Amino acid sequence: MLRVEDIGVRFGGVHALKGVSLTCPAGQVTGLIGPNGAGKTTLFNIVTGIQRPDAGSVHLDDRDITRDSTEQRARAGLARTFQRLEVFGSLTVRENVQLAAELHRGLRRRGRSPVELADDLLARVGLTAVADHQAGVLPTGSARLLELARALAISPTTLLLDEPGSGLDEAESHQLGDLLRSLAAEGTAVLLVEHDVQLVMRICAHIYVLDFGQLLCEGSPAEVQADVGVQQAYLGAESVAS
Ligand SMILES: Nc1ncnc2c1ncn2[C@@H]1O[C@H](COP(=O)(O)OP(=O)(O)OP(=O)(O)O)[C@@H](O)[C@H]1O
Ligand SMILES: [Mg+2]
Repeated sequence: MLRVEDIGVRFGGVHALKGVSLTCPAGQVTGLIGPNGAGKTTLFNIVTGIQRPDAGSVHLDDRDITRDSTEQRARAGLARTFQRLEVFGSLTVRENVQLAAELHRGLRRRGRSPVELADDLLARVGLTAVADHQAGVLPTGSARLLELARALAISPTTLLLDEPGSGLDEAESHQLGDLLRSLAAEGTAVLLVEHDVQLVMRICAHIYVLDFGQLLCEGSPAEVQADVGVQQAYLGAESVAS
């Protein structure tokens, strides 16, 4: 289980996050939504150790990991995908996943052969047919699934996904939702940042809404959808945009 407590971050005069606390339990998908610039990616950067918070703490199970390096956090089972895709374009799809698996083996010094693991993960995200294609020529939707396979290569206990549904068509997005639910059912704690409200409402057990760096509301999908503040700050604008 992931828990962040009272996180605060400033960029110059801007309070990017202020007093943000949330928990992301194992075995379910937890949603984190909110308008552009609300602080969602910044929170992911703090949880994964790319950015240091000015206040607050991050806990993985009962361990305080606030001061741990990104490598220590990965070793502890934390994985993420990036909003801006981070795949190696000149390598094949399979090589991209193998590389992540090899890195993981180096970190944990155990586990299955990277080649076997890569093929299993590609099957799981539905990319077997393009395993030998160069990653750089994949359409965005497939590249996002490749990022997910790379994140899964470290066998994470906690998985943070930054807009994995963007660029996916309706069928791919549905398939992604099913995959995230099955990962959660296997015991993974999944934290999902996503603008596709339908996907979020379908698969999340609990949702947090961020607005201007602060939590506006939290609850079940039904509770969040019924919240007037959320409708005004976000959902209204989103349904107009889509
Ligand atoms: N490294 C940085 N330096 C200065 N300001 C930053 C930095 N990173 C983020 N910010 C600012 O912090 C705020 C939160 O940004 P963040 O990227 O976390 O939002 P977001 O919720 O992920 O938005 P989006 O939905 O557009 O991805 C924004 O005002 C942004 O401009
Ligand atoms: Mg973002």
